[in-house]
Amino acid sequence: MVSDLKKLTQRPEYTQKFNSMSGRHGWLRLTPAYSLKIVEEILNQDAMAERVLDPFCGTGTTALGSITRGFDAVTTDINPFLVWLTTAKTRHYSQEEVDDTLMAGAYALDLVENAVCCADPPPIYQIERWWGPANLGFLCCLRSAIDMASQGTASSDLLKIAFCRTLIRLSNAAFNHQSMSFKQSQPMLPLDTNPADTFRQDYEHVCDGAAERIRGNSRAYVYDARELCQETLGTFDLVITSPPYANRMSYIRELRPYMYWLGYLVEPQDAGEMDWVAIGGTWGIATSRLNDWQPYYGFEHPHLSDVSEAMRASKNKNGALLANYVLKYFDDIFGHFRSLRSVVRPGGRVHYIVGNSTFYGTVLATQNIYADIMREIGFDDVEVRAIRKRNSKKELFEYAVSSTARG
Ligand SMILES: C[S@@+](CC[C@H](N)C(=O)[O-])C[C@H]1O[C@@H](n2cnc3c(N)ncnc32)[C@H](O)[C@@H]1O
Repeated sequence: MVSDLKKLTQRPEYTQKFNSMSGRHGWLRLTPAYSLKIVEEILNQDAMAERVLDPFCGTGTTALGSITRGFDAVTTDINPFLVWLTTAKTRHYSQEEVDDTLMAGAYALDLVENAVCCADPPPIYQIERWWGPANLGFLCCLRSAIDMASQGTASSDLLKIAFCRTLIRLSNAAFNHQSMSFKQSQPMLPLDTNPADTFRQDYEHVCDGAAERIRGNSRAYVYDARELCQETLGTFDLVITSPPYANRMSYIRELRPYMYWLGYLVEPQDAGEMDWVAIGGTWGIATSRLNDWQPYYGFEHPHLSDVSEAMRASKNKNGALLANYVLKYFDDIFGHFRSLRSVVRPGGRVHYIVGNSTFYGTVLATQNIYADIMREIGFDDVEVRAIRKRNSKKELFEYAVSSTARG
């Protein structure tokens, strides 16, 4: 294994970068999205499957990849914005709906030009860091113009996705770190770029994707993956997913501009509350609550005990808090796997794409704990395969942990 790991490279084709050129997959970017290529390779390998589940949907890579190939898919996420996005990405659009959206986009720009309507800016903290006055004014008018111009769910959803693309392109957000941060200067668009042209390009791009034909059907649900239930979801013969990693990545942090503009976040404390119910979340209140956290599912594992002890013993002032973070992460993941067992048919295959972590010099071998949990809850033929190096840190890798549900 060690010599294999030494040969592994970062393989950008196994990251979300691969998705940006793949039609609807490229509509909105999320740094921790995984690659369509990974999903396609697994679908090729398990081509006899009928129903595919992704319990950690994110931007819907699994669901969209599956239905494009004619599989039926169900996907769940705790974040309602991502479920809305995935529902829109996986819908079948008629040519009439696409044409209506193109007309509604043009009409929305007319409304903006004629200053017919204007929404208030969303309550984003230090909003002036995100957008200069002119672009912010444009976005406020465009946001309400889209509501006035679009008729029906299809064109409303497509224009809102285009709006999300535009708001990021007009912003000072940069993606050169693990997730979103701010650029030092103004937006990277050429100086003479008109915001209306940016939105026009974006809705035309989204409409091109909507016009693509897909074969299978998908349903996306707002759902807690620790409580998967056969009665509501049915059973599956293939699970392909990328759960949150134990790395303190906050999806809410990266998604907050979209979520505020579209009304999924309203009060400043909403973000922390949503991250607290998400597995692995640590935004705002979700971090301080870790101090009082108590195990819920009672998960224990020798490697986890060793790592959490080492974290507590480290000289870092956050060592004890982050030890609780890691313990809670695995308690939640164990809760997820326990509920997963009831929705996977005997002989069904599951594939988890997950990264390991380091805390204060101690490596947390998440992939091995996943493998042990799978064995414990009733999966056989457990295989752990390293697929890529994560970044410049030599210890960080991404793994596929795969297994078969016992009969
Ligand atoms: C690594 S991301 C998935 C990315 C996805 N594969 C993609 O390509 O976009 C993990 C997802 O798990 C979701 N999540 C976190 N806790 C959850 C829970 N308790 N139940 C369901 N989803 C959850 C997060 O909101 C996030 O979208």
